[in-house]
Amino acid sequence: MKKILVTGGAGFIGSHVVRRFVNNYPDYQIYNLDALTYAGNLENIADVEKQSNYTFIKGDITDADFIDDLFQKERFDAVIHLAAESHVDRSITDPLAFVKTNVIGTMNLLNAAKTIWNAGKAQLNGAKDNFENKRFYHVSTDEVYGSLGATGLFTETTSYDPNSPYSASKASSDHFVRAYGETYGLPFVITNCSNNYGPNHFPEKLIPLFINNIINHKPLPVYGDGKYTRDWLYVIDHAIAIDLVFHKGKNHQTYNIGGFNEWQNIDLVKLLCEKMDEKLGRKQGESEQLISYVKDRPGHDLRYAIDSSKINKELGWKPTVTFEEGLSKTIDWYLSNEEWLKNVTSGEYQNYYSNQYE
Ligand code: NAD
Ligand code: DAU
Repeated sequence: MKKILVTGGAGFIGSHVVRRFVNNYPDYQIYNLDALTYAGNLENIADVEKQSNYTFIKGDITDADFIDDLFQKERFDAVIHLAAESHVDRSITDPLAFVKTNVIGTMNLLNAAKTIWNAGKAQLNGAKDNFENKRFYHVSTDEVYGSLGATGLFTETTSYDPNSPYSASKASSDHFVRAYGETYGLPFVITNCSNNYGPNHFPEKLIPLFINNIINHKPLPVYGDGKYTRDWLYVIDHAIAIDLVFHKGKNHQTYNIGGFNEWQNIDLVKLLCEKMDEKLGRKQGESEQLISYVKDRPGHDLRYAIDSSKINKELGWKPTVTFEEGLSKTIDWYLSNEEWLKNVTSGEYQNYYSNQYE
């Protein structure tokens, strides 16, 4: 039985990855390591909790001793690393938290994997064989490439040029993963994905925040002129891509994952308002009245767009869910999971939004 450590499996994307691996690979033992920060929620994966090939471990990747002991005890065969501080706005107010989790946390996992997988063997360049059948998979973001102008796409060879503390921390962790591959021979893969949306998305990010605000007749704070562009991908298509890269991707490689689905924020928000009015039985145009242009995010990247042709050509991946379908499923999920929304928006969440950029 293969033992796979998934970090951040109680979060948005991690929960879909854990569910997919637990259900599709009964001969794997899936260990979900999560600190259950504000963004982690065991409700996200309650449906797999009782399965015999699933184990939840509450723990913090920034605690090096804990991580070393865990690797020593469990002897994982592979790591799929998603745990992170993931929200750009929070990285602007508390950058150090992002260095701790995204950089130091990743380093702790790399060190533990290197030590356990390579125990007693030469640890210098050329020792790649010592890591036979092991894999360190780092789940990363397209934001490491910085911002595009009106045209062009990010490819795997685009230079790193991160602009926010969040993307700088993810770029740094990507570099360390690659450096461990080059220096110690650690077998790794990295994927850099565009903006995800779908069920379990914490309502601080654009789509779930605006769904929640529309439900509650609250303002929709569009940053700047709203002409910023993102490439949206349904989260289950990301989980499918992760599954493919984990099993078929080549070691020491990077793959870009994107939705071929660019939207200017304001157009997306208007579409969301229209769909929400329809689903909530409100008069068309009612939710659009909630749009409020607010002060811009500092260092706001203008446009992200991904060239996914490498993963498409090499592994045959492409998105399976259209934006129309994905957005509709997402709204339906939030409308039928009121309790989930209520639970995650109680407590501290109430203060978070009162001091945004205004
Ligand atoms: P999320 O914020 O929803 O979930 C992060 C999870 O990590 C939470 O469950 C949280 O409890 C856990 N976590 C945070 N700090 C931890 C720590 N110190 N120790 C252990 N667990 C900790 O994030 P997400 O949106 O699901 O993103 C997952 C990963 O995918 C991140 O690495 C992110 O950079 C990357 N990513 C996200 C997107 C996106 O659109 N959301 C796109 C591309 C890449
Ligand atoms: O591109 C991948 C990245 O996508 C991931 O790595 C990040 O973890 C994820 O959070 C996401 O980052 P963004 O900053 O693009 O996502 P966010 O949902 O925060 O914002 C999307 C766009 O909407 C962005 O241009 C900022 C804008 N926005 C966002 C919020 C929360 C607003 O106009 N108003 C808002 O209230």
